[in-house]
Amino acid sequence: MSKSSNHILSIQDIRKKFGGMLILDGVNMELEKGKLYQLIGPNGSGKTTLINIVSGFFKPDGGKITFDGIDITSKNLYHTYKTGLVRTWQIPQPFVNLTTLENFLISSNANSGESFLLAPLKSKWEKDEGKVMDTASEIMEMVNLVKQKYTSSQNLSGGQQKLLELGRAMMSGAKMILMDEPIAGVNPTLAHEIFKKISQICKEQKITFLIVEHRLDIALQYADYVFAMNRGEIIAQGNSEQVIKHPQVIESYLGE
Ligand SMILES: Nc1ncnc2c1ncn2[C@@H]1O[C@H](COP(=O)(O)OP(=O)(O)OP(=O)(O)O)[C@@H](O)[C@H]1O
Ligand SMILES: [Mg+2]
Repeated sequence: MSKSSNHILSIQDIRKKFGGMLILDGVNMELEKGKLYQLIGPNGSGKTTLINIVSGFFKPDGGKITFDGIDITSKNLYHTYKTGLVRTWQIPQPFVNLTTLENFLISSNANSGESFLLAPLKSKWEKDEGKVMDTASEIMEMVNLVKQKYTSSQNLSGGQQKLLELGRAMMSGAKMILMDEPIAGVNPTLAHEIFKKISQICKEQKITFLIVEHRLDIALQYADYVFAMNRGEIIAQGNSEQVIKHPQVIESYLGE
C-alpha cells in the first residue's frame, strides 16, 4: 500500500470482538488530509465501534492505526486528543453552566497558564492568553456563535450545541475531527447549515473530517469520499454516487 505523506489517518485490518462476537472484521481505510469523509451503513454495522476505537475509547483486538505519522493503536482518548485527533460525542456534553466563550477557552490546548508550573510566571502566559482569546473569537465567527458569546450553553438550541462542539474541537487545535451523527434530531435547514459549516472549515482550515451519519439525503452531498460499512466490513468506497448505487450497499440497507 502506498504511504503518501498526504495520508493523515491509516486504519489497517482493525478487528474487534464483543462477547465472542466479531463486530469489526478487518477494517481498512486510508484518509487524506483536508477532506470530508463520511462513514455510512445500516444500524449495528459497527460504525460507532470503529469511531470509538480510532478515538482511543476502545482498544482493538487486532490491527493498526496511524495518525499523522504516529502509531496510535491502543492509545487512550487523552493521547489521541493530544495528537490532534478529536472526537465530538453523539450527544454534545458541553459544560452547561459556562457560556460559549468560556467553553471555548477551556477547550484550548495552547493555554500555558493552565500548567501549574507556568501559572505563577504571568509574563509567560499573558501573551498566550491574548492569542487564545483571538482564536476563540475567530472560531466563534466560523461556527456562527458570535451572538451567543455570553449565552450559557444550556440555553443554546440543539443545533447550536452541535456547533459549539465543533468549535470546541477546533479550539483544541484538532487536525482531524470525528463526529458520530452530528445532525441527529436537528431540523433539515439547520442540518444543512451545520454541514455547510463543516465543509467550509474542512476546506479553509484543512481539517480532515470523518463523519458517521444516517440522514444520507442531507449529508451525502457534502462528502468528498464515502465509506460504506456492513457487518463490520467496508463493503464499498468512492464518491457518494458510486457508493449509494453499489449493489451491496443497496442490499445492506434493504433489511432496515
Ligand atoms: N460495548 C459493547 N458491548 C457489546 N456489544 C456492543 C458494544 N458496543 C456495540 N456493540 C455491538 O456491536 C455492534 C455494532 O454496534 P455499533 O454501535 O458500532 O453500530 P453502528 O453502526 O454505530 O449502529 P447505529 O447506526 O445504530 O448507531 C452491534 O451489534 C452492537 O450491539
Ligand atoms: Mg452508531
